[in-house]
Amino acid sequence: MAVAKIPPGPKGRLFLGHTLDYMGDSLGFLTRCAREHGDVVRLRLGTSDYYLLNHPSLVEEVLRSRSSEVIKDRLTRMIMPVVGRGLLTSEGASWRRQRKLAMPAFQRGAIERYGAVMVEHALRLLGRWDVGRPRDVHQDMMDLTLGIVAKTLFDAEVGAESSDVGRCIEVMMKYYLNPMKFLKVREWLPTRENREFRAAVARLDEILYGIIRRRRAGGDDPGDLLSHLLAARDEEGAGMTDRQLRDECVTLFLAGHETTALTLTFAFLLLARHPEAVARLGAELDEVLGGRPPSAADVPRLRYTDWVIRESMRLYPPAWAIGREATEDFEIGGYPTRKGTQLLVSQWVLHRDPRWFDDPDSFRPERWDNDLARRLPKGAYLPFGDGPRVCIGNHFAMMEAVLLLATLAQARRLEIVPGEELTLAASITLRPRSGTRMVVRDREGSIPIAG
Ligand code: HEM
Repeated sequence: MAVAKIPPGPKGRLFLGHTLDYMGDSLGFLTRCAREHGDVVRLRLGTSDYYLLNHPSLVEEVLRSRSSEVIKDRLTRMIMPVVGRGLLTSEGASWRRQRKLAMPAFQRGAIERYGAVMVEHALRLLGRWDVGRPRDVHQDMMDLTLGIVAKTLFDAEVGAESSDVGRCIEVMMKYYLNPMKFLKVREWLPTRENREFRAAVARLDEILYGIIRRRRAGGDDPGDLLSHLLAARDEEGAGMTDRQLRDECVTLFLAGHETTALTLTFAFLLLARHPEAVARLGAELDEVLGGRPPSAADVPRLRYTDWVIRESMRLYPPAWAIGREATEDFEIGGYPTRKGTQLLVSQWVLHRDPRWFDDPDSFRPERWDNDLARRLPKGAYLPFGDGPRVCIGNHFAMMEAVLLLATLAQARRLEIVPGEELTLAASITLRPRSGTRMVVRDREGSIPIAG
């Protein structure tokens, strides 16, 4: 009788498997698993079997060539009470239709018009950055990208409604931060947290359905992302229902706001520890912009700024892990994989793998010179995922991150408040738990921004 081959893995505990190790320190635990057990590691988390895949070719296999034999993993599906069947969580024909309908709104040409909104919002923040005063840079970046997503998604200024949306999303994210979710603790228990969660979902629905109703009734087209989604038609001429629009709006709000804020927060924290990078960034900004605010047209020439963003996402990927569930039996990396197995790919682990990156723990934006992105094996660097489910907002996010960093770093530099230490929480996203207070300083020798 043939013996089924099982991938190696760390010794687990009775009943709980590796759940406690994972919950205690997900990033450290997964890194150790990869370094000690190789490219396919078997884990048991909660009640599910997981294979952690640590080789780019296996990453590509799951995200690309086997994309029709997998669906989103169990943990991702847990956010369905919030995002419904939006792009992040839908599957099969319904995902294909929605992706096709939404895609034109995210193409390079379509998003360039949002550059001006992004820069305008960054300039407003700059106006509040008093030199010598400490700021919580994470909070600032969250407020900044919230304002931008509200304006670009449904032409809303940061007023009561959009800050309410931000608050609801914050309540929901906190809800998913609770590690007990992993053990499937019942959502219907009458706890305060569950009540707050349900109230946040209800308030979010009220706001979004209100916006959709008003927009369907009114004639003018503000040219925002919602107008694109409202106008989109499939081959039969059918558009999205209110429910689909609501789900896509929540998804875009959720997926597009915090991830970009995190990218910038980590970029400022890394820059603060690398004065030579601040100097090189400043030199590029002075040369390309000469003291005027940037625009979308400048983005291709802001090469070093782009490298700083790429390198920050390599070391601190806001989406630090991607999960899939096998819907069929197949073999991966030489190991049989049963239907229902959870397949985990971790950008945190892959991006710090010394096989693909020299001196992987160091912040070296210039490593991206000479087209490193093209020279890397496919699947070694994937801050936006890969394959057909790759982030639909990747160009939007890169443009936003480059424009915001350019606008802010052109005039100011941030210095870490003495004693602040960065600690991380690996929830749905990789968030700073503490250590993001920074003091605003003038950038030495900067050209004052005109206009
Ligand atoms: C730095 C910022 C961002 C990062 C790191 C990021 C990361 C990701 C990743 C890794 C995925 C793939 C998840 C998977 O395969 O399971 C994804 C999907 C997605 N992202 Fe982003 N994202 C960012 C910004 C944005 C923005 C700005 C938007 C929209 C405005 C957005 C909308 C989406 C959507 C809708 C999906 C699901 C796509 C699909 O499955 O068809 N993201 N993102």
